[in-house]
Amino acid sequence: MTDLNTLESDVLAQVAGAADLSALDAVRVAAVGKTGSISGLLKTLGAMSPDERKERGAAINALRDRVQSAITEKKAALETAELDARLARETLDLTLPGPYRRKGSVHPTMQVMDEMISIFADMGFAVAEGPDIEDDFHNFTALNFPEKHPAREMHDTFFFEPKETGERMLLRTHTSPVQVRTMVSQKPPIRIIAPGRTYRCDSDATHTPMFHQVEGLVIDKGIHMGHLKWTLETFIARFFETDAVTTQFRPHHFPFTEPSAEMDVQCDRSGGEIKIGQGSSWLEILGCGMVHPNVLRACGIDPDEYQGFAFGMGVDRLGMLKYGMPDLRDMFSSDSRWLAHYGFSGFAAPNAASGLS
Ligand code: DAH
Repeated sequence: MTDLNTLESDVLAQVAGAADLSALDAVRVAAVGKTGSISGLLKTLGAMSPDERKERGAAINALRDRVQSAITEKKAALETAELDARLARETLDLTLPGPYRRKGSVHPTMQVMDEMISIFADMGFAVAEGPDIEDDFHNFTALNFPEKHPAREMHDTFFFEPKETGERMLLRTHTSPVQVRTMVSQKPPIRIIAPGRTYRCDSDATHTPMFHQVEGLVIDKGIHMGHLKWTLETFIARFFETDAVTTQFRPHHFPFTEPSAEMDVQCDRSGGEIKIGQGSSWLEILGCGMVHPNVLRACGIDPDEYQGFAFGMGVDRLGMLKYGMPDLRDMFSSDSRWLAHYGFSGFAAPNAASGLS
């Protein structure tokens, strides 16, 4: 009769010695497979007496279980070893250059916004923000637009459906409501710019329903037009990166400033493209003026004590001028070829010390 102990130590030695998964499988088939040595032993039970069969059968089954679990354990060990070997073999060098892909770039509007912020920050302006969805008070009434007055039609406003109270919210038509929010919540002196999105129902080569403005506001004692003029001329010279900028102020009307003006820069239009700092044409760049006493009052500031100036300009338009983009609508058409051409590197953060563009 086969000695179970010898058979067990034989098979376990083969299991332990199996070098890989296929060798282990061969050992398994030879021991516990259909015609394997241990399975063969079970077939001999039939010829035994019941007592003998009971005792021998239990011993063979226990042997088979031990062998089976040794095989399972060895299999797991071999699989782990194989995986470790594969991981060691298939290393990936992340420092190797990859295939060329179109790189992401900074949209010109965001670049120009950053440039403007860096220039004004250098002059001591803080950045203020307000919501895109405004109410009538902040967008119009507090800015001295008379109720039901046609001045409100100056802006082709997008209104929301009226609320139950009858109040209609709107998409802000300019960044000037941020002036109001700032004056209501802060005490003078105030020196802020408010960059942001604005909306008007308009679309052609120089207008898009959504565009960007930068608003400016200075409130302090003794502020006059001279401060306004210096601030804006200095800004324009730095923005266009030239000293040769000539500006002119033309009288204009805005409900929220008195006096109001539009500022033009001298330019040359003769060669089909606009060149700043030369030529005999003028280009309108921004609106500005001294903050109207009614606006100061609406925001809880005493106009006999404090004065201020404000200005507002189109970011996308200034970008078009500086970087020679012919059509404003292209800026928001999400064409990656356009962005690859006009976009800026994300690493070239504009600042006053190392230059803007
Ligand atoms: N809010 C004006 C507009 O969108 C721009 C503007 C003009 C803003 C004069 C000002 C300002 O603060 O003083 O047309």
